[in-house]
Amino acid sequence: MNVKELDALDGLISPGEGRALMWLAGEAQGGPVVEIGSYLGKSTCYMATAGAFVWAVDLWDLRLPTEKLDKARNKNRYTVNFESTRAHQRFLEQLKAAGVEERVQWVKAPSGEVAKVWTLPIAGLFIDGAHGFGSVRLDYESWAKWVNPGGWIAFHDADKEKGGPNRVIEELAKPSGWWDRWERVDRMAFAWRIS
Ligand SMILES: C[S@@+](CC[C@H](N)C(=O)[O-])C[C@H]1O[C@@H](n2cnc3c(N)ncnc32)[C@H](O)[C@@H]1O
Repeated sequence: MNVKELDALDGLISPGEGRALMWLAGEAQGGPVVEIGSYLGKSTCYMATAGAFVWAVDLWDLRLPTEKLDKARNKNRYTVNFESTRAHQRFLEQLKAAGVEERVQWVKAPSGEVAKVWTLPIAGLFIDGAHGFGSVRLDYESWAKWVNPGGWIAFHDADKEKGGPNRVIEELAKPSGWWDRWERVDRMAFAWRIS
């Protein structure tokens, strides 16, 4: 798929962000890219098209509380959520259309739980899951340590000063001294690991 076709995929990434993700993914060396929050796969497709192997982690389930409630009531039944099924189907369809299925491993699970069993160094980390401060902090604290020196980290929706992604950048990532060369493209911020 060419870049214009990638731009036309369903998803929440701007053309500028998509190009930045392609560039970052093309620079990824010595491991896969991990993406927290793939949704319909637009960002996944940009990065896999650039040649990276992408681990795509998402719940594909926007109504998890309903499912939890059913289980809590001990009804012994798991609600099949049409919308979440549709989101995951669309993710798979878009990967197929882009011809990148072979370069993507998807994991349908909470990002914090996946991190507990993760053991590989990674070359790039794209954080675009839940955007509340606690959620972004959990993603950052669980995953950033796996990024190789020379690798990169990117946060989507980092444009709001008091928003979760920007607060994690300002309160945790920048003071850590791990990252250098911060840049922004549209609503995305990214940096390179130096220590
Ligand atoms: C803003 S969307 C991602 C947009 C996507 N990157 C794109 O290219 O359009 C956020 C996604 O994060 C997922 N998500 C939210 N909390 C999560 C968690 N704890 N673990 C995994 N995925 C999560 C949601 O299911 C949703 O699909």
